[in-house]
Amino acid sequence: MSEIVQQIKGKQVAQKKFPFLMKEGIIFPPQLNLEQSSSEQTAIYKSGILKGKNFVDLTSGFGIDAYYLSRNFEKTTLVEQNSALLEIVKHNWEVLEKKASFINEKLEDFLDQNKEYFDVIYLDPARRDEHKNKVFLLEDLSPDILEIREKLLSISDQVVIKLSPLIDLKYLVSVLPGIFRIDIVAVKNDVKEVVIFLSNTADHTIVCNCVNLESGEDTFTFQFGEEENARAEYSEPERLIYIPNHSILKSGIFNLISEKFRLKKLHPNTHLYTSSDRADNFPGRIIEMEVVESKNIKKKDQFNIISKNHPLKPEEIKKKYSLKDGGENYLIFTQSKKGKIILKSV
Ligand SMILES: C[S@@+](CC[C@H](N)C(=O)[O-])C[C@H]1O[C@@H](n2cnc3c(N)ncnc32)[C@H](O)[C@@H]1O
Repeated sequence: MSEIVQQIKGKQVAQKKFPFLMKEGIIFPPQLNLEQSSSEQTAIYKSGILKGKNFVDLTSGFGIDAYYLSRNFEKTTLVEQNSALLEIVKHNWEVLEKKASFINEKLEDFLDQNKEYFDVIYLDPARRDEHKNKVFLLEDLSPDILEIREKLLSISDQVVIKLSPLIDLKYLVSVLPGIFRIDIVAVKNDVKEVVIFLSNTADHTIVCNCVNLESGEDTFTFQFGEEENARAEYSEPERLIYIPNHSILKSGIFNLISEKFRLKKLHPNTHLYTSSDRADNFPGRIIEMEVVESKNIKKKDQFNIISKNHPLKPEEIKKKYSLKDGGENYLIFTQSKKGKIILKSV
């Protein structure tokens, strides 16, 4: 019975997360392995970046990343410590008529014996303890990238690592030498992955891409460190309010956004921007808004309620003013340099 439930659950997840596996003969692993897998969209995105002859995924898992990433390679190797999981992947790849070498080993042992050169090594480390509620460090991951970094770069010129959106980018760059590219990948404005690229030949420039898939938006690119020298201008709200996408917020380029798009920021800790004329290609939402007094907010009105740098959470605002969620209009509770303000879309 539990085996059947596992397969039904697997199909439900696959429908949304990896529809390419909605095929007869495909077997699904337990829930945790499904949760740990990348989605089809982010795997396809990464596959567009990587190519070469020899590819290895050292943390195969359910093999979603490996399936897509291996597209542009002649030879693929999958390493996975969990033998039951690797057996499932092997079976599925036969169903999908895709070839690879499947190695059931700890990747540290694989690396010890390996004599091959790889054009790309890919890793998607697992959290050692999913419920640990503290600062996210590389040491919390399996494998520990810091321990195997040198070994990896001795057998490949490009090591690509997928990390959680919770990772702190400044910390990452400070502890991990050789990073030359960082992609912050969101799907429909929800940040899913931080993907880092390491090489032996990297100089000190790190290109950072803020990607928002399925939004029809262009990628926003900057050089890591540009923020240090950027200066923001400030102003009280003008006609238009700009809300940056989450991949931009994750990158921490709060002053650079002001500089690049010639926008004024509302407050050092409020990551909302303003202008009277519309800025082109802004990676986020632009809403025409006006400042309102709280007494002019009508009960039972419907708004998308946003709270930024304001003590009240959206739920508290909703309750306090008896508002309804959703609809076309926006209500932002925030702070400008002059103090707390409420913005309402016009
Ligand atoms: C997050 S999952 C990978 C998911 C995969 N990228 C996908 O899209 O399906 C990480 C996997 O790495 C494996 N793993 C972690 N540490 C390992 C190690 N030291 N050696 C081999 N496999 C390891 C885990 O068993 C787990 O299946």
